[in-house]
Amino acid sequence: MTSPHPALEWWKTAVVYQIYPRSFRDTTGNGTGDLNGITERLGYLSDTLGVDAIWISPFYTSPMADFGYDVADYTDVDPIFGTLDDFDLLLTEAHDRGFKVIVDWVPNHSSDQHPWFVESRSSLSDPKRNWYVWQDPKPDGSPPNNWQSLFGGPAWEYDNTTGQYYLHSFLPQQPDLNWRNPEVVAAMHDTLRFWLDRGVDGFRIDVAHFIMKDPDLADNPPAAPSNGGAELTTMSGYDDWDHLHDKGHPDVHEAFRGIRRVLDEYDGDRFSVGEIHVFDWDRWSDYYGNGDELHMPFNFSLVQSDWNPAAIRGRVEGLEAAIPPHGWPNYVLGNHDEQRLATRYGSRNARAAAVLLLTLRGQPTIYYGDELGLRDTDVPCEQAQDPWGSRVPGMSRDGCRTPMPWSSVAGHGFTGPAAEPWLPFGDDADRRNVGTQIDDPSSILNLYRRLLRLRKERPSLHRGGIAFIDNVPDGVLGFIRADGTEHTIVLINFTDEVKRTSIPDGATLLISTDQKRAGIRSRVIDIDPTEALAIDPEPSA
Ligand code: GLC
Repeated sequence: MTSPHPALEWWKTAVVYQIYPRSFRDTTGNGTGDLNGITERLGYLSDTLGVDAIWISPFYTSPMADFGYDVADYTDVDPIFGTLDDFDLLLTEAHDRGFKVIVDWVPNHSSDQHPWFVESRSSLSDPKRNWYVWQDPKPDGSPPNNWQSLFGGPAWEYDNTTGQYYLHSFLPQQPDLNWRNPEVVAAMHDTLRFWLDRGVDGFRIDVAHFIMKDPDLADNPPAAPSNGGAELTTMSGYDDWDHLHDKGHPDVHEAFRGIRRVLDEYDGDRFSVGEIHVFDWDRWSDYYGNGDELHMPFNFSLVQSDWNPAAIRGRVEGLEAAIPPHGWPNYVLGNHDEQRLATRYGSRNARAAAVLLLTLRGQPTIYYGDELGLRDTDVPCEQAQDPWGSRVPGMSRDGCRTPMPWSSVAGHGFTGPAAEPWLPFGDDADRRNVGTQIDDPSSILNLYRRLLRLRKERPSLHRGGIAFIDNVPDGVLGFIRADGTEHTIVLINFTDEVKRTSIPDGATLLISTDQKRAGIRSRVIDIDPTEALAIDPEPSA
């Protein structure tokens, strides 16, 4: 069926797959994944699974205090991941397959080992001093203001060499760059150009709104007792403050316009998505700008949602009402900072969650391993890695970052049989792995594959509008996607009971989480517990 609308930019119809490179595929046998491992598995991603783009978490030179989110060289590859040549090969092979590659970009902070910071901290008069945020102590020697690090403790570290504090919104090993210094802006723009020149298709921008703070570094006020919920659950006292001044200053929009101008120097619809944890829809939608800033702010609302139809519908309607006319929606259900979706919702609901993610209107991002239904792994203390977890008990992200199990053999096809993976495999990796699931028609992996195919085939799903269906039974979420005269109805049963609902006469089943469902009778359908399905309402000719 032809679509009534003009062609859309690739990133609007693409399904993105996030790769945490340490955990995807290790080709050197050192227990840590690498770029060649990703290149090796491009066939899995494009042909077997059927996604359109990958976002690769940082692989730059780094002391790995925050596993790559502490960058010591923005224009090189850390030896643990390979070389620039390896990256170029990955990119070429991805492009040969018609695949897009999005890289992570970490503008808010560098590593304390970055030569810029090494110079900056060397003396008060160093030309790079003002590349970071330095301040005198208060008269009593305490930090310049009350800002807190998201990873626990004050956001200021005292530096003996020069007797000043520097700002770090995250770890002390991650000093914040001073985006109010035009030299920093120019240097960071050049790092974008470095990767754009190599041919990358876009950037995922780490904690994008953090880059602009109050120029006067005013204290944050205490959080109101009920201010609509915390922006992040940090358990570290961070949420006791209203983060009015330490991030998201209105000047961030001019900084985003500058970044967009750099992307627009290049052809091919280079794309940007900002990691922006803001849960007030009006404030969130500001981050779309006027179509001249980042292409989209990530929408984390579903990650925070309870698994029930009213909550999910509320989030989707909130987004649809907030989104500006030039904006395009997006959804994620998991990433390298969050509990895995199968842990949050349970393994059976993880299948329905796949249907939800891949049938909503907007760009979906799948977190690696969610297509296998991976759950968080209990990582024993002696194998713990995440610095957030060691600073703030309960905040470790190790559980969602464990290696991708490709097969049942020793090393699970992730690493060599004798190698020690950097984090342990889940205890169900013998069962929940690519090799085992590919041969099982009813596996969650095959559900993802069928869903991705269906999304690609049906314009209503990859580009159409969305409207909720009101007359569905309690506990069921129903919506209809439409592109011109092509429609897809999606029904999700969130309960443990069978739910009966009416459907158009002559409708046909497109997909169900229950691979064995034979088809549908006309006019009514009994939706099984936790079942999700998509239906073509038009009688076939
Ligand atoms: C972002 C990243 C997270 C990292 C933090 C600091 O939130 O997703 O993994 O620790 O920024 O860079």
